[in-house]
Amino acid sequence: MNSEAMERAREVEAQLTDEERFSLLISVMGANAVLKDKDPRIPDGVPMSAGYTPGIARLGIPALLMSDASLGVTNPGYREGDTATALPASIALGASFNPELARRSGQLVGREARSKGLNVQLAGGLNLHRDPRNGRNFEYLSEDPWLTGVLGAESVKGIQGEQVISTVKHFSLNCNETNRHWLDAIIDPGAHRESDLLAFEIAIERAQPGSVMTGYNKINGTYAGGNEPLLQGILKGAWGFPGWVMSDWGATPSWEFALRGQDQESGVQIDVMMWGHETFTAPLRAAYAAGELPKERLSEMVQRILYAIFDVGIDRWEGTPDVDLAAHADIALETARQGIVLLKNDGLLPLEAPSTAAAPFKVAVIGGHAQLGVPSGCGSSAVTPPGGYAEVHSIGGPGIMGSMRNLYVLPSSPLAELQKLLPDAEIEYDPGMSPAEAALLARRSDVAVVFGIRVEGEGYDNADLSLPWGQDAVIEAVAGANPNTVVVLETGNPVAMPWLPKVRAVLAAWYPGQRGGQAIAEILAGVTNPSGKLPLTFPAGLDQTPRPELPGLGTPWGTPTAVNYNEGSDVGYRWFAKTGQQPLFPFGHGLNYTRFGYADLAVQSRGGVRAEFTVTNAGPRRGADVPQLYLLEDPAGSRMRLLGFERVDLEPGESRTVSLDVDPRLLASYDSSRGQWHTHGGSYRLALGYSVGNYAMEADVSLAESWFGR
Ligand code: BGC
Repeated sequence: MNSEAMERAREVEAQLTDEERFSLLISVMGANAVLKDKDPRIPDGVPMSAGYTPGIARLGIPALLMSDASLGVTNPGYREGDTATALPASIALGASFNPELARRSGQLVGREARSKGLNVQLAGGLNLHRDPRNGRNFEYLSEDPWLTGVLGAESVKGIQGEQVISTVKHFSLNCNETNRHWLDAIIDPGAHRESDLLAFEIAIERAQPGSVMTGYNKINGTYAGGNEPLLQGILKGAWGFPGWVMSDWGATPSWEFALRGQDQESGVQIDVMMWGHETFTAPLRAAYAAGELPKERLSEMVQRILYAIFDVGIDRWEGTPDVDLAAHADIALETARQGIVLLKNDGLLPLEAPSTAAAPFKVAVIGGHAQLGVPSGCGSSAVTPPGGYAEVHSIGGPGIMGSMRNLYVLPSSPLAELQKLLPDAEIEYDPGMSPAEAALLARRSDVAVVFGIRVEGEGYDNADLSLPWGQDAVIEAVAGANPNTVVVLETGNPVAMPWLPKVRAVLAAWYPGQRGGQAIAEILAGVTNPSGKLPLTFPAGLDQTPRPELPGLGTPWGTPTAVNYNEGSDVGYRWFAKTGQQPLFPFGHGLNYTRFGYADLAVQSRGGVRAEFTVTNAGPRRGADVPQLYLLEDPAGSRMRLLGFERVDLEPGESRTVSLDVDPRLLASYDSSRGQWHTHGGSYRLALGYSVGNYAMEADVSLAESWFGR
């Protein structure tokens, strides 16, 4: 905690009038595609964004201008003509397993935000991937709390290092979109601490975000924003979080949330749409006047906001930063390169013209709007890139998010980029409209590259794991017509692959951002060696997941829905280990064009568990690998956990020694009755591997019993 910022927050708060105090407790949403009229509380000349809170000039408190930023500084609907660097989806950043890249993406967001006068970024989506249908998984990093917490922290540090406040969101268990305003996420409290809350805990303690945004959902029967055990007990109590808790937009039905830990109501107009009233305006003032909201609590709410302002320094901006858009585009490209995962390759990739062939190498590129660009996810996180979209196709749908559901195509054409890298090849395009037509081109080509895309986004869960618009049938037909077929998936989630045995290679490119087409082409052509690793398990089908049926899916908007997360902390790969099932592709999996070997694993437990080992690039090309350290068994039985990872970039023949310090919480369980972490005494079996289930070596380490933390 920054005691200077805290002291100043107290001093300044003491000088405020009640009128000023209340003015800080709400944010007003800017005019956009949904709210056509500008709210008169937003002064003229202020850039439109997701939230505006007035400043208090006489005391040097700046107005808060909040914008979304999961994948860049958002703009569709706001600020006509505005553009920003459109980064790959967070799930691609997760697949890079690269904290340094997360930091650079955060810096990029911070700089661009600041250059637009926006000082709060609603970035930092830390919800775990619990369900492969979740429409917002592309905005989240992974299914693992350590990977999510570590990457999330770096992104917050990157943003706040530019003197822009970052939130982390959506606290907590906002892991499905179906009826999200009426969704009750049921979970065992100890399991919650070991999973979704652990991701938040790690990110918050490492990066001190100024603000935490609550989810729309309930947790164990109580809305996140009014959830006292979560906000007062854990976030502000056990973790000592000094910043402020804002609601999600339109998630404050009751002024009493102020008594339970929420400090600010966000997007008040959406509360009017949802609940028929604003909440932290007249109702909260009335509660204060009636003595139901204590003065001390009002002061505390304000002090928390002021603390974050002073701690991050948004009141001390000097000048406007230079924004190097070309350098930022390179960060987008590098994230796509490192985040694309090569799932399968039986020797077809990288694409090479047979050296003996007299005729030109013929490549068919099919489907996915690949002649124009790459898709992105939709909802509040969408970003218009410099130069605009290549295409926006309205999709629509029920509920208030229908108007924001679009197929956005970012102008980085895989087709054009592939042609640049294979200038001697004859590359033809087929739109993938019909299986029969696509097969015609595939049949007369040496290789077929077929794209499978899906529009995923906020407000909607996927009904199943299939590709829409008959694309599975197109892939089947192409693979039937040409044995040398590569599938490139551009989705925000795992998909089913009924055609998998018939194709020779598969790339998961996610939503790869404004330079995504280039990154895909580079990997296909072998200019870039793929290095992404799956940040979530690809199931063979929904029947392998904890909830083959998603409760509430298909019920009308407004239907109360309870999702029982009865897998507890056994999310993703841990669920598969516990139930002994083989997924389609495991967590951590990702192929490349070289070979890595591991040696000399040594694990010691003095002063914390530390593993040391050597990684060698034993293959023919430069490449990056992500060795992963797992817990396989503890004294209580089998118990999978990712304990650590490191991305290592090596030249052929080069070796590097890596040491990983294991966070003690990953070796412990959370005992809610005692309110502490518990390490069992005894022997722990660790494994070093390439992915879950693919281990190079194992080692045992003994630990004494201990209780720690809160
Ligand atoms: C989303 C948040 C976002 C907010 C403001 C909500 O619909 O759930 O993630 O920050 O809108 O745009």
